[in-house]
Amino acid sequence: MSIAMQVAAGEARKGHTEFSEELRRMIEKAKEHIAPRQTAGETIPFAAARGELSELFAVFHPQTKLADMVLPEAMQARMARIVDEHRQMALLRGHNLHPRQKLLLSGPPGCGKTMTAHALAGELGLPLFVVRLDALMTKFLGETAAKLRLIFDSMEKVRAVYLFDEFDSIGTERGNPGDVGEMRRVLNSFLMLLEGYRGNSLVIAATNHGHALDQALFRRFDDLLSFALPSIDLLTETIRRRLAMSPTKASVSLVKVATAGEGLSYAEVVRACDEAIKFLLLAGRSDLKTADLLAALEERRSFLNRTIL
Ligand SMILES: Nc1ncnc2c1ncn2[C@@H]1O[C@H](COP(=O)(O)OP(=O)(O)OP(=O)(O)O)[C@@H](O)[C@H]1O
Ligand SMILES: [Mg+2]
Repeated sequence: MSIAMQVAAGEARKGHTEFSEELRRMIEKAKEHIAPRQTAGETIPFAAARGELSELFAVFHPQTKLADMVLPEAMQARMARIVDEHRQMALLRGHNLHPRQKLLLSGPPGCGKTMTAHALAGELGLPLFVVRLDALMTKFLGETAAKLRLIFDSMEKVRAVYLFDEFDSIGTERGNPGDVGEMRRVLNSFLMLLEGYRGNSLVIAATNHGHALDQALFRRFDDLLSFALPSIDLLTETIRRRLAMSPTKASVSLVKVATAGEGLSYAEVVRACDEAIKFLLLAGRSDLKTADLLAALEERRSFLNRTIL
């Protein structure tokens, strides 16, 4: 629509008023046939709790696929297995088995935990509901527990991927020592709900601090996926893919750049590539060089090493 409007405006500027008017009429007419865009709330089909629920979730309809991720082979295989078990859920259920549906993702920032939740949803064609922990955690424990129950109810009714991002904050967010006992109870009620859950949704918890979570917690999950900083090979692939999508002509030594990026996360390296491409575009150049990427990586590194005063 907006492209058509731009064309109409462009034609009007060129003095083609008749054509421009006709275009505008066509756009107006087409608009009448377009259904209003679905909003986050409308994907949840039960009206009563809609207001409260939409506050608890951010809703996405991801197009991301597993193939968009650069991962060690073993990790790719484990993810493919999860997808397969969900696609063939009916077969498994027919034998009284259930697919892996409670996943714990742990690992350093920027290594693909959130992206994995998007990719699994994208592969399965399911919406992704990201649970907003800030909305879940209230000062009032009873209220938090009630909201948790609401979320688990929704999991039963609406098949989707549910992501509890920064999951460790359930245990530690309110660092106030007086609260620890209460947060522990919230965690316990989460674990009980999780343990009892047998619906068709996929429940994913992600954390940067896997080591801080206790054994009792691990037992409740069907699969633990540990993410790590990328090897030089994986970085090479990440950079290759990012540059392949860029509008610039790259003549770059991927190995040199990847080696310089060692120790950085996928996210940092993707970001450095973006920075280098932006810099080039703004400078009116189109030939991306190894040195441009090395400079961008250096900049990311010094940014990360800076301490916040
Ligand atoms: N395995 C990967 N393959 C390709 N790109 C990746 C991968 N991991 C991360 N990225 C890139 O980094 C971005 C951020 O990754 P993501 O949000 O998944 O990190 P995270 O592990 O959830 O980090 P955090 O702990 O900070 O939440 C992604 O949008 C993607 O561009
Ligand atoms: Mg994340």
